[in-house]
Amino acid sequence: MSFSRRPDGELHVEDIACSELASRYGTPLYVYSRDAIENAWRAFDSALSGRPHLVCYALKANSNLAVLNLLGRLGSGFDIVSVGELARVKAAGCDLSKVVFSGVGKSPDEMATALSEGIKCFNVESVAELDALAEVASAHGAVAPVSVRINPDVDAGTHPYISTGLKENKFGIDTVSAVGAYRKIADNAHLEVTGMDCHIGSQLTDIAPYRDALKRLLKLCDSLHEQGIKIKHLDLGGGQGIRYKDEQPIDLNSWAQAMDEVLGDRDVEIIVEPGRSIVGNAGLLLTTVRYLKHSDDKNFAIVDAAMNDLIRPALYSAWQDIVPVKEASASKKLNYDIVGPVCESADFLGKDRQLAIEQDELLAVMSSGAYCFVMSSNYNSRPRAAEVIVDGGDSHIVRKRETIEELFAGESLLP
Ligand code: LLP
Repeated sequence: MSFSRRPDGELHVEDIACSELASRYGTPLYVYSRDAIENAWRAFDSALSGRPHLVCYALKANSNLAVLNLLGRLGSGFDIVSVGELARVKAAGCDLSKVVFSGVGKSPDEMATALSEGIKCFNVESVAELDALAEVASAHGAVAPVSVRINPDVDAGTHPYISTGLKENKFGIDTVSAVGAYRKIADNAHLEVTGMDCHIGSQLTDIAPYRDALKRLLKLCDSLHEQGIKIKHLDLGGGQGIRYKDEQPIDLNSWAQAMDEVLGDRDVEIIVEPGRSIVGNAGLLLTTVRYLKHSDDKNFAIVDAAMNDLIRPALYSAWQDIVPVKEASASKKLNYDIVGPVCESADFLGKDRQLAIEQDELLAVMSSGAYCFVMSSNYNSRPRAAEVIVDGGDSHIVRKRETIEELFAGESLLP
């Protein structure tokens, strides 16, 4: 078990007690389990083993170099959305020929860099972007490999901020306009049709929208095929949900089987771009209770982590479990809002949690491996937390805690 409560009542990450990690590295502290990350990646790889496939980890979920390096060693590809992410994949020593480049607003400079690094393909999201890519490729005397991101107009039934496959979303090209886009690629000597992609949303718990989206993509593929345009890979995006509370995550083998049934005997490589489901439940955020504050209406636990460290609750009303690291020492459970030191009422990590806690004790915010550290900021001039990976009985600091000096190192005074 990557995360478990041992007989002494203390929460462990692999073989290390959370209190040991906190005293060694301080809090707030992000802790990831190597085992959990690797197992989650392998689950995708093995579910897809019946076909040529590539698991391209979406590093927007957690882009720590050590995480990328571990996945790269397993053979992972990567889904990037900026040259910053491309530079991370490179710095982590991973294979750039397994990189797919998503995102609606790639700049010509970003395109040029990615082209010269020899990425696997550009997931293009508009005709205007296609024109820009053609210009960049022609200026470099190169041929850009292209996949068109299709907006299949399916409802993934997820939070409106993280739903991406409906026609009112800004993502992708509708199935009708896509035909013209593919013709344009086929007719341009500096562009090459390689694939077709979609990504319909995040934290999905149902297979049906994936099936619907794939059917729509295949219909388009088949009609392009009749026009002599061959799609070599189909990229189904990411989005597989995880259990934060009581969600029933998608069983990957059933999901792969469902995709397989729709694909039939088509000869095509399958790409997936999972982010959250690889790292989400492979990490937690350790935080120390600074003060308890009780009033007639409310109990507050003021902790040393804040919305700048973990913004999901404030931004999406996301729910992440918050548990004491040691089995309850205080006797009585009270209803707490777990809040940080930032001067905003939105600065909470959890609301209405029944907890028996005391000042100075450690809490763990669970499911904090994805979209947590990467979305952190320096708001209120708070240095960003450190990140640690536990590997069995060893722990490695993979990002040191930011210092106060680093906060304003790039700033200067007027003469
Ligand atoms: N591919 C594309 C093109 C994407 O836009 C995304 C996520 C992924 C793959 C990976 O999706 P995943 O497997 O992680 O669901 N910050 C939000 C989630 C935003 C997801 C954005 N796109 C959150 O904290 O819930």
